[in-house]
Amino acid sequence: MPQKPKNPYKRPDAFTKAAKAQGYPARSVFKLEEIDRRVRLLRPGQRVLDLGAAPGSWSMYAAQRIGAAGKLLAVDLSPITAAFGPQATVVQGDALSLTNEALAQFAPYDVVLSDMAPATSGSKIADQARSYELFMRAVAVAEALLAPGGAFVGKIFMSEDFVKARDALRNLCEEVRSIRPEGTRANSVEIFLVGLRRKAAGKAG
Ligand SMILES: C[S@@+](CC[C@H](N)C(=O)[O-])C[C@H]1O[C@@H](n2cnc3c(N)ncnc32)[C@H](O)[C@@H]1O
Repeated sequence: MPQKPKNPYKRPDAFTKAAKAQGYPARSVFKLEEIDRRVRLLRPGQRVLDLGAAPGSWSMYAAQRIGAAGKLLAVDLSPITAAFGPQATVVQGDALSLTNEALAQFAPYDVVLSDMAPATSGSKIADQARSYELFMRAVAVAEALLAPGGAFVGKIFMSEDFVKARDALRNLCEEVRSIRPEGTRANSVEIFLVGLRRKAAGKAG
């Protein structure tokens, strides 16, 4: 009898095991760690907004990097049970419908992160469209709440809309890099767009 194909998300791989061993709820922490290492993203005292923060690995990592003098707002549709320390506040809600004011608790932010991803629907096209919508919402939030000179990291599923997404971020930031961290699963369609040095107001374009 043919073997049932294995679901790669069901098997704890080396990254998952290492994340758990270090006290993080998810392997995604290594993606942010690599991006941080490559672009020098996070520093003590920064104000950080983390969109799509559950179960909490990115926020745990960011809270450690910004330290007690920093501020972190972690937002997700799902409840977050991980503890990030006194510098963090958690909001449960939909980033697509929460107002910018509701997300502005520690604005202006030095860093806006979005690891938001849609629950997969079985339709590749629908998932790509939803991922693009989430990415563009994160860029719009950054446009409203990111300080000049600040940085943005956003996840997007590869699709024909990638160029539009990259151009939107180029409009906002002086430099834009595409990063596919080593911790990304081999079969994953996701990529991270990193915007560095948010342009001063009036310099868009
Ligand atoms: C890949 S997980 C994030 C993992 C997280 N960065 C970590 O390290 O633990 C994607 C998250 O995006 C969230 N999400 C998807 N759509 C959202 C929305 N409209 N508003 C807020 N969060 C959303 C999901 O609930 C899910 O928790």
